[in-house]
Amino acid sequence: MDPKKAAKTVKETVEATAEKAVDMLTPEVPGAPGSAPAPFDEPTTPHDPLPPKKEHGAPDTRTPTGAETGAPATSNGQQGGYLTTAQGARLRDSDHSLKAGARGPTLLQDHHLREKITHFDHERIPERVVHARGAGAHGTFEGYGTASDVCKAAFLEKGRKTDTFVRFSTVLGSRGSADTVRDTRGFATKFYTEEGTFDLVANNMPVFFIQDGIKFPDIIHAGKPHPDREIPQAQSAHDTFWDFVSLHTEAQHHAIWNMSDRGIPRSYRMMEGFGVHTFRLVNAEGATALVKFHWKPKLGVHSITWEEAQMLGGIDPDFHRRDLYDAIEAGAHPEWELGIQVFPDTPEEMFEGIDLLDPTKIVPEELAPVQPIGKMTLHHNPSNFFAETEQVAFHVGHLPPGIDVTNDPLLQTRLFSYVDTQLTRLGGPNFGQIPINRPHAPVNDMNRDGFHQHAVHTGVAPYKPNSLDGGCPFFAGTDEGAFVDLPVTVPESTKQRENPATFDDHFSQVRLFWASMTPVEKEHIIRAYTFELGKCYEQAIKERQLQCLANIDPVLCQEVATGLGLPAPEPTELLAPVESSPALSQVGGEWPPDGRMVGIVVDPEGDLGGVRELRQAIFAAGMVPLLIAPHGGMVDEMPAQRTFATGRSVEVDVLLIGGCPPPAPDALPARDAEAGASGSVVLDPRVVLMVEECWRHAKVIGAWGEGVTALGQTGVDGTPGVVSGDSAAAVFTEVQQLMAAHRVWERFPASVG
Ligand code: HEM
Repeated sequence: MDPKKAAKTVKETVEATAEKAVDMLTPEVPGAPGSAPAPFDEPTTPHDPLPPKKEHGAPDTRTPTGAETGAPATSNGQQGGYLTTAQGARLRDSDHSLKAGARGPTLLQDHHLREKITHFDHERIPERVVHARGAGAHGTFEGYGTASDVCKAAFLEKGRKTDTFVRFSTVLGSRGSADTVRDTRGFATKFYTEEGTFDLVANNMPVFFIQDGIKFPDIIHAGKPHPDREIPQAQSAHDTFWDFVSLHTEAQHHAIWNMSDRGIPRSYRMMEGFGVHTFRLVNAEGATALVKFHWKPKLGVHSITWEEAQMLGGIDPDFHRRDLYDAIEAGAHPEWELGIQVFPDTPEEMFEGIDLLDPTKIVPEELAPVQPIGKMTLHHNPSNFFAETEQVAFHVGHLPPGIDVTNDPLLQTRLFSYVDTQLTRLGGPNFGQIPINRPHAPVNDMNRDGFHQHAVHTGVAPYKPNSLDGGCPFFAGTDEGAFVDLPVTVPESTKQRENPATFDDHFSQVRLFWASMTPVEKEHIIRAYTFELGKCYEQAIKERQLQCLANIDPVLCQEVATGLGLPAPEPTELLAPVESSPALSQVGGEWPPDGRMVGIVVDPEGDLGGVRELRQAIFAAGMVPLLIAPHGGMVDEMPAQRTFATGRSVEVDVLLIGGCPPPAPDALPARDAEAGASGSVVLDPRVVLMVEECWRHAKVIGAWGEGVTALGQTGVDGTPGVVSGDSAAAVFTEVQQLMAAHRVWERFPASVG
């Protein structure tokens, strides 16, 4: 057979198999590594690369100057069926270096060896100086048209769709650190608008530690691991962090957000996003308004418990990354509404006594409601983490006409910092030409040359004015979509290193946050401060932070002091009464369960018909079942995704027990009992442990049939949020109703009112 024809036949067969495989595997078993199941034997017949997985997206195939090419996304990476050198020469061997005889020395002439090793030697690039650990996804933004009275940006027009790429991150940890650490989360969105890229580089908390960007190296040096031992990794529970925030009290507002449940989100899909700074918008008539940007997740704002966070750090350090990937793979595409709080653009730049240029302050939503202006859906995972998530470069100065910055001194420094760091991180000035960073608007700048130049510029006159290139490129007028810096009046002033006096209040909004929490949220905040300060070594630092807590709330201070075994100091500031802002609380609503993980404990001798029906019902409800069985492989043609040895409660949002599996052969009563189970002889001790942990973490637990007997072994039946019944369907219906509240809140005893 003609080899070309053979390759074509193989390719068609592989594609057909891959499609079938995709249908078979997704969404039933999250985590399939490829688009086709791997055969046992190594395939040796050449064929084109396998098609991408259906949930994979990739940057548009654009030229470095933003033009559409129409080439398939796969052409970005590899093509052809044969292994080649970087120059495209086919290779017949990549396992043996070229030697002077089988036992002889390696020859310098082995170009393939040198190319392979040299490239490998340079695979790593510097990680981000902050936000090094992250996960990304592709999406689409659709404008509602409701912003037109304040903003002329075309991507906000009603029904207009714009491609987006989002990167979520933690701030302090290194690239390989755990996802579930207590930290602020980044929420950076690139909108590839037709008028130029807009980057909304946001966080999941609406305030920041510092008011002036000149302090950024200070807060980050304090939060990062200690310079001598380089510990602890990715967390703020250490002396240098609390040393800084207790001395630099403007950090206290951000610190309480970190100590609240916002510091340990359940999922990137369940986080709000905040632009933090106030931005200035301009409409088509030239009228300006001040705004704050908000992302509101359709799934609500939810968190894990601190114990879950710590367990997950060991059991699944990739928890958030996996959750985002699996949800998109399973078709549970996360959605956020973009909203704005709008304030009149007055010379004072104040609203209801709040300085809009102070990034340590919020404007409560009760004073200025968040008005929805569009919706973003994340629907594809990156095809290649490094090419997309690692190389994406955001910048707060990437703004389309209609959106401009304010004089917030934190924002002003950010305008300088991002491109500066990316010059080093991405190895030169042309990182804007990396596929994920290419704009979707025509680019005609006069920047030239530099490392890794991908554009092949024509013409001879990259300067203005010129006549040699026919005067090209030309300036645009406002009618042609030019970005015009808004003519904002700068008050007559003298040069000085100072903040306005309105920045001086460091405590009233911390008190507002505390007052807005429900008892269970307050309890978590107390425990978080106690844990973090309990990990500090220096007594003076604990005492100094207790003094700050005394200036927030006496109960908070007293409870933390008790935990630390220290006396609670008296406040040094006047504790003026504050209002509360109910919008700040995470407790009390009902939300959809999309993409939630439902653990099902299976007994191969139990009601497997019920399990099968339950799986279908879980898929139908937009959730993902996770079968946990005594052994791996298949249970009655259903894949066992976890065993009692590999599964752990913290991986699931809810646990359903479909039988009463006796101890599996690998259960070690002594060891497993030590892990917390009661050593029952009737039920596998790891299942007992799972139920106990789910109960302690206030998760809904359900059981039917013989599973009810199993529950009886654990002693939790009959308590709040524990459902039992005859059929899987009936139990699941009740479980879903309880899941809408995220947790069984009444199981958390709260000591404060
Ligand atoms: C003056 C204060 C700040 C400075 C100097 C600063 C600096 C930086 C730097 C150098 C990076 C790494 C960028 C890269 O390597 O591509 C970064 C990342 C980031 N910053 Fe800031 N930052 C500041 C404040 C903030 C604030 C207030 C927010 C939130 C509103 C924020 C959100 C982010 C996010 C989300 C990322 C990660 C972007 C990504 O995913 O690639 N930063 N910042």
